[in-house]
Amino acid sequence: ENGRASTKPISQVTCTAPVNIAVIKYWGKRDEQLVLPINPSLSVTLSQDQLCTRTTVAASVDFKRDRIWLNGQEQSIDTPRLQKCLGEIRRLARKRKHEEERSGDLLGCCVHICSENNFPTAAGLASSAAGYACLVQSLARLFGIDGDVSHIARQGSGSACRSMYGGFVEWTMGRAEDGSDSVAKQVAPAEHWPELRVLVVVVNAGKKAVGSTEGMQTTVRTSALVAYRAEHVVPSRQDDMKRAVLDRDFQAFGEITMRDSNQFHATCLDTYPPIFYLNETSKQIIHLVHRYNRHHGKVKAAYTFDAGPNAVLYLLQDDVPEVLALLKHFFPANANNDSERTFVRGLPDVCRKDVSSDLLDSVGLEPSPGAVQYIIHTKAGQDPQVLTNPQQALLDENGWPK
Ligand code: DP6
Repeated sequence: ENGRASTKPISQVTCTAPVNIAVIKYWGKRDEQLVLPINPSLSVTLSQDQLCTRTTVAASVDFKRDRIWLNGQEQSIDTPRLQKCLGEIRRLARKRKHEEERSGDLLGCCVHICSENNFPTAAGLASSAAGYACLVQSLARLFGIDGDVSHIARQGSGSACRSMYGGFVEWTMGRAEDGSDSVAKQVAPAEHWPELRVLVVVVNAGKKAVGSTEGMQTTVRTSALVAYRAEHVVPSRQDDMKRAVLDRDFQAFGEITMRDSNQFHATCLDTYPPIFYLNETSKQIIHLVHRYNRHHGKVKAAYTFDAGPNAVLYLLQDDVPEVLALLKHFFPANANNDSERTFVRGLPDVCRKDVSSDLLDSVGLEPSPGAVQYIIHTKAGQDPQVLTNPQQALLDENGWPK
């Protein structure tokens, strides 16, 4: 590659952005082009200490064309979603330049984009949400756009709009033709519910399932249940969920989370031909959680599943040791595979706990060694952050991957 010897200073921005896990699921678009959903949704933004995307964007008159590198590999920039995000950012920047008579120097420049996840993409964790949120946040900063840009992240990937805010976040359906009111809004900051914890249970999976974009298209086209869900179930559920969050009512929060995950997967089964995201391990985790809750006579843990077999469990801090002990008992690590040391990652594994034989009997599953790869212990976290230390940038001072 040449053109590396830069003569003019370049502008560069580095950001990190979080993953989010929905407790009211988005599944189905009413407008494919604008990425407008058939129902509102609500999610928890996870801490960037455990899971995040980092992106550096640079603009220079020396760059010949827009380019992107993802996890160390150059990728095509000519995908509709990337083009949409880049185009929308430049359109907004041009508009602001006119309105505010700003310099807008960068408008004629091409950009270099370099992005990495701090977690394995292969694990099938929600990487597109963090990825597009990070891209849009970095570009907005680079082009000097302030204010909400969740409607742009939405056009990269629907769920990405919710990663533009920290804590508990809703994505409103909106009514406007152009989608301008289909945006993410914070319901409560992460600090609102400090005891809430998240266990991402990475399930050993075979082949990759149907992607969410394609999956939800087929569901909207063929399922009567998904239309019923959007019209008659989600609107009141969204209100109930907001109230549960604001009241820190774990009973309500947990029950609605599980019911909504189950209904989303029911719409997948109602799709023709049907889509299966849950595998045998997912179903065992569902049983484990319900039997655990029944043993204690209340909702102490709640599961939710996206477009894959990995479980995300929500629970309160005090119950983490017991639930981890249960998971380790019924899904022990494969001795030859992952060592015990790395089976639980992220936040400290707090004090170990011995589970009563009573509880083990209540759960009553046949242990499945190796069915769970590892577990990430995390909690709710903040919105995208700007990194100012140039050492943390993924592009060098000339705007090329380091
Ligand atoms: C099951 O946001 O990945 O995770 O808008 O087509 O990019 P596109 O879909 P995407 O769908 C996420 C679906 C989900 C539920 C959710 O996050 O709300």
